[in-house]
Amino acid sequence: MKDDMLDRAREVRRHAYAPYSKFYVGACLRAEDDSLFVGCNIENASYSLALCAEASALASLISAGKRKVKEVAIVGSADFCPPCGSCLQRLIEFADADTPVHIGSPDGKIEKSFTLKQFMPLPFTSSTLEKP
Ligand code: THU
Repeated sequence: MKDDMLDRAREVRRHAYAPYSKFYVGACLRAEDDSLFVGCNIENASYSLALCAEASALASLISAGKRKVKEVAIVGSADFCPPCGSCLQRLIEFADADTPVHIGSPDGKIEKSFTLKQFMPLPFTSSTLEKP
């Protein structure tokens, strides 16, 4: 599944709209029923409106009625492109701490796997909002 997901992330990365940063990112998410959802980054002349690839893939997964992210794959323009802080926060809303996160290089030569917890050890989640 990991290789399929990285391939899908690489494929959708080709559609990234990133004329300002020229940093092209593709993401693939696996939902609870093992269906895959992809997204790419979408920039804007108003720079702060840039949408990350992970956010774009997550919007697609949620819009399809899914509610769980079981696995994540990301391919950016760098050999190692971890999810940014905002995307980690978005992903943890629908994923578990042990959810695998695969990061691949654009040329397919490097692949590294982590858990979401490694990037985000002490997340702010819905349980944080529960009053003592
Ligand atoms: N980007 C992503 O798509 N995902 C991340 O997790 C980090 C950053 C995009 C946003 C922007 O279009 C470009 O990479 C450079 O920051």
